[in-house]
Amino acid sequence: MPKKYYLDCNAHLPMCEKAQRAYTEYQNSPAGYGHPSSPSFIGRLAATALETSRKRIAELLGAKSPNQIIFTSTCTQACEWGFNIFHSRAQKAGKILKCSPLEHPAIKYILDKTPHSLLNVTNNGVINEITNDDDYVICLHVQNEIGTIQPLENLRGFVFSDMCQSIGKIPVNLSNMNVDLAVFGAHKFGGPASVGILYFKDPSWWIPLGDGSRYFFDRAGTPDVASIVATTAALEDSLDNMSNNINNMNAFQKKIEKIFINNKIEVISNNVRRVPNTTFIKIPKFALNLLVSLFEQEIYVGIGSACGTKHSGPSPLMLAMGKDGGPGDFIRISTHGQYDEHDAEYIGKIIVEKINDIWRKNYVAK
Ligand SMILES: Cc1ncc(COP(=O)(O)O)c(C=O)c1O
Repeated sequence: MPKKYYLDCNAHLPMCEKAQRAYTEYQNSPAGYGHPSSPSFIGRLAATALETSRKRIAELLGAKSPNQIIFTSTCTQACEWGFNIFHSRAQKAGKILKCSPLEHPAIKYILDKTPHSLLNVTNNGVINEITNDDDYVICLHVQNEIGTIQPLENLRGFVFSDMCQSIGKIPVNLSNMNVDLAVFGAHKFGGPASVGILYFKDPSWWIPLGDGSRYFFDRAGTPDVASIVATTAALEDSLDNMSNNINNMNAFQKKIEKIFINNKIEVISNNVRRVPNTTFIKIPKFALNLLVSLFEQEIYVGIGSACGTKHSGPSPLMLAMGKDGGPGDFIRISTHGQYDEHDAEYIGKIIVEKINDIWRKNYVAK
């Protein structure tokens, strides 16, 4: 039986064992019956679990205080909420937003409806502009499709950063970074898909998203404490294993990209600073054929941003980088540190064989 290879980790990771255990233990404990806004004894237990999680997550992300962290439903909601806050502050200051053209659809689709100017980007997908002290800048940290790491240190002024793809791949310490607002999604680091995190350098920036009652400044409605507890466990697990995982990611990436390059397969942005878990290759016209043909070998790859798969026509990311190509032209291979260079060798060879087969069937045979 061939081993299964799950290579779409930038789209989603299942909950890690530690997170699953934390979730179940919490649910089965007395606190699992409590509503954290309730003054009852079990309500206080639930509130304590929630505040312990907030404190631990703040520490792990390098925030100075738990009050800088609020919980949302999904990273997309954190993006929308952070965007509204940031945009309203820019408007009050009479400034037009300056934005990276590399944003994930969670921000890009809102940006499309908002006046903004675009930051300069190289044809390798890296922002190359130094902003001013009074600018309002939106720029993601790690680009989700090609994995490029953006030089946030060059962005002066106020910065809102989508850091959803950073955890477990590069160190993050919010207090040492020039970010005023940042967002994260728990399922990108082995937590549940239902938890997003919004970080505020200055918690007084908070304004509500939606009406209705809420606990603390979190999203409205009853908090999902079990999922937040599981998110804490997943974050601990991801950071505890980060250096080991990064070694595996590096070995895997180096090996598989060498195989691709030796076989004249274009690896996008391979010569700039990227996270070690992401490889984006160009397979003009036949990316979907390749993706489907790899199912036979139980190799599961992705095609760019899973949330952008409804999009047809040229890829906005490639357009921004001055390159050709749409959703049917690229394959994304993203790992979580679970595979090594031997796996990369096996997968790389299969991908090359499959591409050769597809080419033979579609061109040579005709
Ligand atoms: C960079 C980035 N931002 C935001 C999101 C949205 O996350 P979610 O779908 O969990 O809300 C994703 C998910 O792919 C992402 O990669």
